[in-house]
Amino acid sequence: MQKLIKTVAELREGIDVVRRRGQSIGFVPTMGALHEGHLSLVRAARAECGCVVVSIFVNPTQFGPNEDFSKYPRTLDNDIELLAACGVNMVFCPSENEVYRKGHDTWVEVGAAAVPLEGECRPGHFRGVATVVLKLLNMVRPDAAYFGQKDYQQALVIRRMAADLDLPTEIRVCPIVREPDGLAMSSRNRYLSPAARQRALVLWKSLVLANELVEQGERDARTIAARMREVIESAEDARIDYVALVDPDSLRPVENIEGPTLAALAVKIENTRLIDNCILRGERRG
Ligand code: PAJ
Repeated sequence: MQKLIKTVAELREGIDVVRRRGQSIGFVPTMGALHEGHLSLVRAARAECGCVVVSIFVNPTQFGPNEDFSKYPRTLDNDIELLAACGVNMVFCPSENEVYRKGHDTWVEVGAAAVPLEGECRPGHFRGVATVVLKLLNMVRPDAAYFGQKDYQQALVIRRMAADLDLPTEIRVCPIVREPDGLAMSSRNRYLSPAARQRALVLWKSLVLANELVEQGERDARTIAARMREVIESAEDARIDYVALVDPDSLRPVENIEGPTLAALAVKIENTRLIDNCILRGERRG
């Protein structure tokens, strides 16, 4: 039976029981509006852990003042059903006051990994993410926590935090789940009109092109990024936040593709901000 839990006190009680039984705990933090991307993390946790806990909390502190916090999709009943079908043991869906109690005034600030790309476009975003993830990890105290490669930089920021703050939880990162036509699954895809949903394919197409160029021997990052931009800008209303070719560990821009390189992009289509990425496998020449 899946338990629906709303308070930290209840959660701690449930977790204590599981611990006494000697079961391992796998944790998947989410903001709900669940899709196969989320469920792939849940299945990974299910395969590796005795007890699976999923949180559903639309975290206000990671949204900027002009972002979509208030209209972020909330589909709790459906989410709970999907999770029950995956064999999840506990669903934690706290209120805002339960997570940020009166007087909350402590924040987690991760350094360089949180600065470029999303950090630049969404000031304060990773501070909100790191803070809520640390809080959730302290509430659940899982053996392993599962994140998606879809939010590549987020996973990097959380790994950094876990290492720097000596967290006992293993951070696992799972591959991007895509729609059959290549669009990365995202809760925000449901904002798109059918026509914009079609135009949104330019993100995936630009990543495919980048891969092809690298396979054909192109190594110049500026050339590849320019070609990616062309593909994206073929969608009439696409507004590019960034198209970046960076080192996958430091997120510093690369000039030449010599070894694994992260291609990361953020694009607004019809006012919906979408992100995607892939690792380009450039081999060193010679
Ligand atoms: P949310 O966007 O709901 O995503 C929850 C987790 O699902 C994240 O680790 C994300 O990377 C992963 N995910 C989303 N789409 C995916 C896809 N198509 N394939 C694989 N994994 C995917 O990310 C957050 O929530 C929040 O920032 C959170 C970590 C919960 C903190 O509030």
